[in-house]
Amino acid sequence: MTRTAVVTGGTGGIGFHVAKQLQQKGFAVTVVGRDPGRGADAVAAIGGDSRFLRADLSSLDEVRALGVRLAAEGPLHLLVNNVGGMWSTRWETADGIEASFALNHLSPTVLTDALLGVLKAGAPSRIIEVSSSSIAAVDGVPAYDDVEQDGEYYGMAVTGRAKLAHLAYTLDRAEDLRGSGISVLVVDPLGSAAAATPNGMAMTPEILPPAFRGLWDEIQQSLRPAAAGAGPIVAAATDPALDSATGVVLGPDAAPSEDLLRFVTPEISASVRTLTRRILAD
Ligand SMILES: NC(=O)c1ccc[n+]([C@@H]2O[C@H](COP(=O)([O-])OP(=O)(O)OC[C@H]3O[C@@H](n4cnc5c(N)ncnc54)[C@H](OP(=O)(O)O)[C@@H]3O)[C@@H](O)[C@H]2O)c1
Repeated sequence: MTRTAVVTGGTGGIGFHVAKQLQQKGFAVTVVGRDPGRGADAVAAIGGDSRFLRADLSSLDEVRALGVRLAAEGPLHLLVNNVGGMWSTRWETADGIEASFALNHLSPTVLTDALLGVLKAGAPSRIIEVSSSSIAAVDGVPAYDDVEQDGEYYGMAVTGRAKLAHLAYTLDRAEDLRGSGISVLVVDPLGSAAAATPNGMAMTPEILPPAFRGLWDEIQQSLRPAAAGAGPIVAAATDPALDSATGVVLGPDAAPSEDLLRFVTPEISASVRTLTRRILAD
């Protein structure tokens, strides 16, 4: 039976290379993005059994609609929650939610919830969450009593806080799903490096706190190709050595890493759970 995979943000950036490599490994791949033209180009380049589905994953209604559509199609073997990012200036989604929190945490949470039934039907199956080392840029221990914390907006710290929320939530999910046949893995694809993806190329020095903006040229010169981030994500998705692994974070070398786990505390996990349930119940 052909194994099926969904890659969010699979028409460009890191996700495109993930989707292409998964197709080469025999998956029937669905890539999700906003733009039909970029979707058609991506499917032509991925080849094989691939298709594009359009959804703006910053809109929770569109995420839910995508989930309903995919859930009606039967067993799913792999969900790669890749969409996410970091922005230089604060913006809100159509739902009125700060975008980093929406795209890095709420959107993959809602999509995963919608697809749990088909992932169970496809077991053994995997959920891969794409995280980032921006978590290490969060100043102090973040609170999660609301979507946003007081203070000035710096994309790096705001994204780090959202990625940390999603990591904490994902580790809980991995425990909930233990023994279900669905394994849940998190990947920090680039460690302290960054890649020249559409999102990466749109950033400006304002993502950094003022004291670090002098490093901008150096950061720009060290950008890696988008494909560099795909390797550990594809390994997490396919490596048979990880068949029994769940609730594990893999670093850029695709090996288990404690680097991001040390930021998760029981208090953070509990407050993220409460906040997430509150927002999604509204
Ligand atoms: N780039 C880095 O240096 C880096 C480092 C560490 C971790 N990461 C993580 O890796 C993941 C991918 O990063 P990336 O830099 O490749 O991102 P990216 O440049 O934004 O990825 C582009 C892909 O995402 C789609 N996309 C963007 N916004 C979307 C939306 N609202 N709804 C649906 N699709 C959307 C794009 O298609 P459309 O534009 O057509 O929608 C395209 O397919 C993210 O989770 C990011 O946090 C990235």
